[in-house]
Amino acid sequence: MIRQTKMTVTENISIARDIFRLRLSGDTSGIERPGQFVNLQLEGLFLRRPISVCDWDSDTLTLIYKTVGKGTNQMSGLRPGAVLDLLSGLGNGYDTGLSGDHPLLLGGGVGVPPLYALAKQLIHEGKQVQAVLGFRTGADVFGAKELSALGVETTVTTEDGSLGQKGFVTDALPKEYSFFFACGPMPMLKAVWRACPTSGQLSLEERMGCGFGACMGCSIQTLSGPKRICREGPVFRKEDLPWNG
Ligand SMILES: Cc1cc2nc3c(=O)[nH]c(=O)nc-3n(C[C@H](O)[C@H](O)[C@H](O)COP(=O)(O)OP(=O)(O)OC[C@H]3O[C@@H](n4cnc5c(N)ncnc54)[C@H](O)[C@@H]3O)c2cc1C
Ligand code: FES
Repeated sequence: MIRQTKMTVTENISIARDIFRLRLSGDTSGIERPGQFVNLQLEGLFLRRPISVCDWDSDTLTLIYKTVGKGTNQMSGLRPGAVLDLLSGLGNGYDTGLSGDHPLLLGGGVGVPPLYALAKQLIHEGKQVQAVLGFRTGADVFGAKELSALGVETTVTTEDGSLGQKGFVTDALPKEYSFFFACGPMPMLKAVWRACPTSGQLSLEERMGCGFGACMGCSIQTLSGPKRICREGPVFRKEDLPWNG
């Protein structure tokens, strides 16, 4: 359920090159599923900035973000005690009921954060989870230790081979898995869509306007008609994406 709420910053620290972990305390009751996102109001910026839920409990929300421009740079300066206005419980989220017994998580860069809450839920449901995380270079890597600590068999790839296996996520796919869940930049998602023989769900982190379904600024064409990434997505079934060409 979408809720507008104010949350207080409790921690905002650097965890890798240009990557920060922001912890907030307050009302998280709008969040129902891993893969949903929140939309943050920032000072002097007309459009809110969407960030995936990395983890949450009854009164704490964790976000992981990369500084790429005005909004995320402003976020990196937030100190404990600062209060943020956010819309929470946005988007559909992943459906763990589709996963089978041994799902595979595929994350690229800032597509990794939502996979943490997803992994927690899948493990809680008794599933055996594998993950492949892709980054440009070793200095960008985050999230692998945390996933391993949950019991996820985790492989890291870097494009330059400076950490983990050299190559892309699609170069390190395990032989067997029942279903895949992916999040990352569009070229990675399209490569995953082509390379994975099983069914799967992909989260599309494209640019957004309003973030709650009103402006149509995030529409994409699917095999069942036009859909808004912020409302019917950001998670789509592999079979619904017309990426054959
Ligand atoms: C559903 C969803 C979930 C997201 N989750 C996360 C997350 O967990 N962590 C995270 O770091 N980021 C996430 N993003 C991306 C994040 O919203 C953008 O990086 C952020 O809005 C950029 O704001 P800015 O003001 O710093 O950059 P701007 O000043 O607006 O833009 C700076 C540069 O970043 C590019 N850019 C902006 N937004 C995007 C985008 N969505 N995709 C690709 N390039 C973009 C712009 O084209 C420009 O080149 C998510 C996006 C969506 C739609
Ligand atoms: S961003 Fe406005 S409808 Fe999706």
